[in-house]
Amino acid sequence: MSQKITAAITAVGGYVPEDKLTNADLEKMVDTNDEWIRTRTGIEERRILKTPGLATSDMAVPAVQELLKKRGISAEEIDCLIVATVTPDMVFPATANLTCHKLGAKNAWGFDLAAACSGFLFALTTGASLIESGRFKKVVVVGADKMSAIVDYTDRNTCVLFGDGAGAVLLEPSEEGYGILDSILKTDGSGSQFLNMKAGGSLRPASIETVTNKEHFAYQEGQSVFKFAVKGMADVAAELLEKNNLTGEDIAWLVPHQANKRIIDATANRMGLSQDKVMLNIQRYGNTTAATIPLCLWEWQNQLKKGDKIVLAAFGGGFTWGATLIKWSI
Ligand code: UT7
Repeated sequence: MSQKITAAITAVGGYVPEDKLTNADLEKMVDTNDEWIRTRTGIEERRILKTPGLATSDMAVPAVQELLKKRGISAEEIDCLIVATVTPDMVFPATANLTCHKLGAKNAWGFDLAAACSGFLFALTTGASLIESGRFKKVVVVGADKMSAIVDYTDRNTCVLFGDGAGAVLLEPSEEGYGILDSILKTDGSGSQFLNMKAGGSLRPASIETVTNKEHFAYQEGQSVFKFAVKGMADVAAELLEKNNLTGEDIAWLVPHQANKRIIDATANRMGLSQDKVMLNIQRYGNTTAATIPLCLWEWQNQLKKGDKIVLAAFGGGFTWGATLIKWSI
């Protein structure tokens, strides 16, 4: 009997814009201070895509180009490209289409996936299924968000939290059991009231009223989301370990969504993991929504060893949340 095909991560790429927005910069823009931001979130600075005319696809492209270079393949070899994002270049066509066009990925099909901060995990599981089915050999999964496009820089509740960036992984078939081993993914639409962007969709199309009411910006009731996020992310990560008969000792790294250091600490504690096993770059990039997890993989890839078991975990708007178990393959 032939070995089951799994989807291995065979290359990682990332991109963050050069421009930095520090806590000191924000102190000049809204009534906030470095001490509050650091202690409540862990964030010190974020990257912002400032150049006019550039959008989410312009960060996805260099991230994918980096992974193609590392793997030594051309864009034409990509079979499918998925972009997880809540800040698409346009409502349509999909950012995946625009990214493929800019890359010269002429033989690829693709689509966008919107699951907010859990977008990368949802897209990774979707991409892995395409590989596991045996139908596709090279699937690229991107997490990319230009959050600065939907942040109100007069609202101190949200503007200190978010940044821009993109990360990408290449999935290829493995017959040795490497790659995405398991995922538990969840959604609960009753949470939509706490974290959303009210206008610009079919419910509230753009109008003078929606612009005046600032309904085209990300809205968050921080405390409510915090409560759900702490429980949701920690519970699902613990559930994934239990389901796979693992304990924290079996796990080399936790790769958490970077929304708030306190949520990350709670998840690590629940899994029985020490701080040195937790990837953390929130201090430099803030919350880049779908990009946080692949950006961690990008930055930590030299420390990862073939065979390492790692857990990815996220919680975000929707609500959406989940955890994914990976056996590292490069
Ligand atoms: O990634 C998607 C999922 N999102 C999350 O996981 C985010 C979850 N939520 C959080 O991380 C936290 O709730 C925040 C970091 C957003 C806020 O922290 P908090 O400890 O929940 O603060 P809070 O919203 O309860 O606000 C406490 C106080 C308030 O003042 P009063 O009413 O106590 O006088 C706020 O007005 O802090 C005030 N505040 C600020 N003060 C200085 C809110 N934002 C700021 C700010 N600077 N930027």
